[in-house]
Amino acid sequence: MSQFQYRIRRTIKTIVRRPGQMLRQRVISTTAPRITRAEIVSDLKRLGIHEGDTILVYSSLKSLGYVEGGAQTVIRALIEAVSSNGTLIIPTFHMIGGTMYRTCLTPNYVFDPKKDGTSMGAIPQAFLKFPGICRSIHPTHSVSAIGKYAGHITEAHHLGATPFDIDSPWDRLMKLDGKLVGLGTSVHPITLYIMLEYRMGDEFPLPVMMSTTHLLKCRSWDGTIVEVPVTPRAPEYMARRIDHGDREDLRRYFWREFERAGLLKVRKVGEATSWWMSAQQCYDHLVRLMREGITIYSTSDELKRRPIPESF
Ligand SMILES: CC(C)(COP(=O)(O)OP(=O)(O)OC[C@H]1O[C@@H](n2cnc3c(N)ncnc32)[C@H](O)[C@@H]1OP(=O)(O)O)[C@@H](O)C(=O)NCCC(=O)NCCS
Repeated sequence: MSQFQYRIRRTIKTIVRRPGQMLRQRVISTTAPRITRAEIVSDLKRLGIHEGDTILVYSSLKSLGYVEGGAQTVIRALIEAVSSNGTLIIPTFHMIGGTMYRTCLTPNYVFDPKKDGTSMGAIPQAFLKFPGICRSIHPTHSVSAIGKYAGHITEAHHLGATPFDIDSPWDRLMKLDGKLVGLGTSVHPITLYIMLEYRMGDEFPLPVMMSTTHLLKCRSWDGTIVEVPVTPRAPEYMARRIDHGDREDLRRYFWREFERAGLLKVRKVGEATSWWMSAQQCYDHLVRLMREGITIYSTSDELKRRPIPESF
């Protein structure tokens, strides 16, 4: 599929889905508890998000209740919680057909941070329209940020040999002692799982990385074209992964493991069970787990061989 066909398909999908979405939105607005910006801010503070924090947020809008003002309200609340001294980062990945591999195979693909949207949900989509955001130049793993370190977080993404290299947004998030935050999501979207695969290379227990590196084109903010290397992950492992619909066992295992290790802080934001974790501590723990035989691809037998005590 060409990039043009992809854009047309997405536009058609958006139009076709709109009536159903409007209906569901009406149902949420009449059945779910109403949540305001002030309530979200105070819940975020109680969760442990403070002024000056650097946070990377994964979100599910509908899990919060009926948010007055929708996705924009959540973004404003997140910005207010970290204040002008803090930084809000949101993944705004853009992948043709939803995978790195398909994106690499797309003829004449050129990522354009001004034009290309994201399939990461309503809040990331709204963030792309938010005035003053910085968006990183990356053909598959572009992130957006606002606040004190927004420029620093996003500016060097295209220079890395992988999406998670030194000076990538995740590397800088960890160096700034940043937090991962989940609003109504499980721990499945944590991108540090993938960072581990790229960083560990041959030490990673499964050959999840493909052997060919593709050079994908991106349009920079000044209009010039840059080429960014992308080595896709092998599609055949997707069905085993923590983010696959059938792997609730892995999602529950990692959630309990992060809680057991004292990393995961959990509390409601609006109606949504939400959490935060130190990005650096999470990454360090993933390295330890990998060395104990547990990854986001572990089979149920492998999970049984390293049980988590029942009290957790
Ligand atoms: C996939 C995912 C986005 C789905 O969450 P979701 O809440 O169903 O979807 P969105 O956040 O896009 O919000 C849209 C929903 O909010 C509803 N909604 C619209 N306005 C609303 C409002 N004011 N208040 C509450 N909900 C509202 C919409 O109707 C829609 O629900 P529907 O699909 O049932 O019609 C979420 O589970 C997830 O995984 N998020 C993380 C993604 C990510 O960052 N990944 C990055 C790394 S891998």
